[in-house]
Amino acid sequence: MYARLLFVVVGILAPPLAGFPLRSAPVPELCLGIGGLASEAWHRRRRRDIRLPMNEAIRLGSETASQDPRQTMGLPDLSVVVPTFNERDNVGKLYRKLEAALSGIAWEVVFVDDNSPDGTWNVVRELARQDSRVRCIRRIGRRGLSGACIEGILASCAPYAAVMDADLQHDEAQLPKMLSLLRNGQAELVVGSRYIEGGSADGFDKQRAGFSAFATGIARRVLGIAIADPMSGFFMIRRDRFEELAPKLSTQGFKILLDIVSTAHGELKTVEVPFTFGARLHGESKLDSMVALDFLGLVLAKFTNDAVSLRFLLFAMVGGIGLFVHLGTLFVALAWLGWPFPEAQTAGALVAMTSNFALNNFLTYRDQRLKGLAILPGLFAFYLVCSVGLFANVGVAFSVYDQEPIWWLAGAAGALMGVVWNYAMSGLFVWRRR
Ligand code: GDD
Ligand code: MN
Repeated sequence: MYARLLFVVVGILAPPLAGFPLRSAPVPELCLGIGGLASEAWHRRRRRDIRLPMNEAIRLGSETASQDPRQTMGLPDLSVVVPTFNERDNVGKLYRKLEAALSGIAWEVVFVDDNSPDGTWNVVRELARQDSRVRCIRRIGRRGLSGACIEGILASCAPYAAVMDADLQHDEAQLPKMLSLLRNGQAELVVGSRYIEGGSADGFDKQRAGFSAFATGIARRVLGIAIADPMSGFFMIRRDRFEELAPKLSTQGFKILLDIVSTAHGELKTVEVPFTFGARLHGESKLDSMVALDFLGLVLAKFTNDAVSLRFLLFAMVGGIGLFVHLGTLFVALAWLGWPFPEAQTAGALVAMTSNFALNNFLTYRDQRLKGLAILPGLFAFYLVCSVGLFANVGVAFSVYDQEPIWWLAGAAGALMGVVWNYAMSGLFVWRRR
């Protein structure tokens, strides 16, 4: 009797649940006097379009050598990392602004572009051909602001790294001040803050400003963050401190600063400098309504010490929705279309798996969304994964039921097995990282 009941429950639950997963000392650099001049010369020598007479180059070379070996070797003291997606009209302007703001500082800029359809990477590559301080990382098959920033910092080597938007919303004129706070040891992390005296978020509309304030409040309360603007996308950090934290940071989402600050558990000497968050120059914001979800996922992950991942939760949620889709289809096929139970049940399973695939592709794996022709093989791989998941589900349910004939316990154990299996295998075979 219990066994029959278990069969019915597993039969109904399993297919939709198949989609239900459960610090180095700062290198001294003289920015003033002769050091400043030498630094300027360093910049000029690095630019291909400016040729110095031989004797001047030698003279300046020996001057610099006695002052800062890093400079003669062409090493930057500051790496500015700029994530870009469809910013082709902004990158050149930002480069010129950086050049003006950072005179006297040995710097480089690393643009991390996620293969922008507008060819931003191409514009950056052109800049890089004229000035070796400019570099471009073109990432293919990946998307995400945080991941881009992490990769950009890790691909650079200066003792200090800054992160800023490409669209001129962040104030590059603050960079020298931020750098000197790090150099003189007053801070290990300097945050460009909109929410302290002297700062403002004028570039935001009312709705964004409201959401930003709300999210900041949640982050500060739930995660015990002390700084005023943990959502800022504008900051500078000591490389050694960043490298320590990097393995624990999430590459998903866009709240990299919040992630850094909460992962450091208050052990990062942080100073905030006010700045005015300006209006975007060209193009549009890449942050859509999904950022709220990303934000909640990050708060949850950090709150549970990385025990729960947002992806898994979304996968599980989609599976839960799939259960209702399955039952709805079953009802329609039986009651309205008058199909026999096996056909109706199969239809329910197929519709539920298809809707689970679509939802996961749209939500859970939106950063790796399958598009165009890739959808079809992805869908079939998903069907396959779910079918095998069903066997795993039923197998576990049976063995639990064998030990303890409690139908709901056995059913739940089977469903959990199915969830974990489907989640793990989908990540491997359906939405695998290229
Ligand atoms: N490589 C890469 N990949 N870059 C991206 C991606 C991506 O998926 N998404 C956005 N970017 C780049 C943009 O091109 C821009 O240079 C920067 O990241 C920030 O994106 P915006 O689209 O300009 O975001 P925003 O101005 O609406 O949001 C800003 O304010 C938030 C605070 O509320 C950003 O500074 C956020 O970082 C900040 O958290
Ligand atoms: Mn922006």
